[in-house]
Amino acid sequence: MLPWLVVALGLCAQLGTALPPRRMDTVLQMVEALEAAEELSLPELARALGSCSTPGCLAVLGDPPAAPPDLPALSPEQRALLTHLLRPDPAVPERGAVLAPDGSTVALAPLLAGVEVGLRMAGGWPGPTPEPPAALDALYAVTLTEALGMAFLLAHAHNHSGATLGPSGCWDDVENPQNFTLLGPPSPVPEAVANGALDGVLLGARLAKGPVPLAPLLRSYYGTDNGTASGRPPSSYRRRDFGALTGLKKLEEEVVAMLRLLRVLPPTRGLLEDVGEEEEGAIARRAARDFMETFVECPAIVPRCMWGARPYRGTPKPLSLPLGSVYIHHTFVPSAPCRTFAACARAMRSMQRFHQDTRGWDDIGYSFVVGSDGYLYQGRGWHWVGAHTRGHNTKGYGVGYVGNFSATLPDPDAIALVRDSLLPCAVRAGRLRHDYALRGHRQVVNTSCPGDSLFQEIRTWRGFQ
Ligand SMILES: *[C@@H]1O[C@H](CO)[C@@H](O)[C@H](O)[C@H]1NC(C)=O
Ligand SMILES: *[C@@H]1O[C@H](CO)[C@@H](O)[C@H](O)[C@H]1NC(C)=O
Ligand SMILES: *[C@@H]1O[C@H](CO)[C@@H](O)[C@H](O)[C@H]1NC(C)=O
Ligand SMILES: *[C@@H]1O[C@H](CO)[C@@H](O)[C@H](O)[C@H]1NC(C)=O
Ligand SMILES: *[C@@H]1O[C@H](CO)[C@@H](O)[C@H](O)[C@H]1NC(C)=O
Repeated sequence: MLPWLVVALGLCAQLGTALPPRRMDTVLQMVEALEAAEELSLPELARALGSCSTPGCLAVLGDPPAAPPDLPALSPEQRALLTHLLRPDPAVPERGAVLAPDGSTVALAPLLAGVEVGLRMAGGWPGPTPEPPAALDALYAVTLTEALGMAFLLAHAHNHSGATLGPSGCWDDVENPQNFTLLGPPSPVPEAVANGALDGVLLGARLAKGPVPLAPLLRSYYGTDNGTASGRPPSSYRRRDFGALTGLKKLEEEVVAMLRLLRVLPPTRGLLEDVGEEEEGAIARRAARDFMETFVECPAIVPRCMWGARPYRGTPKPLSLPLGSVYIHHTFVPSAPCRTFAACARAMRSMQRFHQDTRGWDDIGYSFVVGSDGYLYQGRGWHWVGAHTRGHNTKGYGVGYVGNFSATLPDPDAIALVRDSLLPCAVRAGRLRHDYALRGHRQVVNTSCPGDSLFQEIRTWRGFQ
């Protein structure tokens, strides 16, 4: 074992739970300390610690640099945390993840590998040597397509018996995040890894265009400028921006190129021995399509445990899917749109308290709530009957915009989030009938909800009746 690693691991055990919070700004502090000391950059250090030790990543980026014997720029706690986050463990790909200010969880390994490729490309790097068997874009190879290709290759070998993508997860404490727990069966590409890959591609592509200092770039991307999020940072647009940068076809081609590389690398060669060219194409098509659907076309939904939901009271009643209706609401109170994770989470908790304690309902009434921070928040979710539209709760989902939209409209992004993302995604997933009816709350109950302005807006949406 490398001496530096021994020291760091020893400290880890000794420090117990006193590690710095697993937040993006903790990582940014380390990037800055390393930059100031002109030591290895964080992406290089990550590789020295083993964060790019899969066959494909090694083939593209080459042998890692030697781990430095000492890193005086970092405190012992920072070193211990880094070692813990970046030590590879294929069984727990989400372990090296941190919480970003927008409430998303981001795996560092794919993020830092993408950043390293971007920095190298800006410096005129000619690409991997020896050249891989198929033209391959290094940016996608180190961030996404190896994990994605392997996931679907193994699923193919095992007759698609396990999960290949997802799930999301939750932190023990969003103020001082230490433990991250997945919300469902593990897969090789949980949402945290997908987020790290999307960010690695977007930031790597930005860096490749011309060198900019890393720390300010990351600070503005994640919105950690002064430690507190004040609005929507670019990270909250990662799905939209990745979709604009990378079409389905491009992603599919990059997965094929990765499978061709894995076919000639000794550690993975055997896996592809019995996979013909046609099968290879089918695996790549499926991988690219499922990835785009799950992490680009469908919206991110903040799970209940992330906004601090209380438990449901009593026993929830299941919906029978697919549903035929959607009812659009505004919350009225809170009357201001929420524009940060912290503000939206607070709004969710206060609505749940009101619905449970004052109204006497089992839970927050809405199926989903729409923030103006780029995220949907899970209320009762896809599977349980809500309390949003009297007399119609078993027939449709209730989707509520945080804010008072009597005289103003939600932001265009918040409109598009439901109209162009949530609803088409619900149809594709078989949760909503393709001929669903969309209505404003006021069409079925005597109320002004969802406000005159928002009601005029939804009259133009697909399915409005
Ligand atoms: C996959 O299915 C095929 C035929 O349906 C079967 O022969 C094979 O044993 C299965 N493989 C695994 C790993 O379950
Ligand atoms: C976090 O995880 C560690 C190790 O798995 C465990 O010992 C500790 O109790 C957990 N802390 C919380 C708050 O769940
Ligand atoms: C820091 O963030 C707050 C919002 O939380 C904002 O009002 C303030 O202008 C920011 N300060 C600087 C110097 O960017
Ligand atoms: C909602 O907006 C309308 C129109 O601007 C205003 O008259 C009303 O007082 C607002 N209600 C609340 C609760 O903010
Ligand atoms: C609808 O509600 C308003 C105000 O609460 C009331 O004046 C009106 O009579 C109600 N209309 C019907 C049809 O119940």
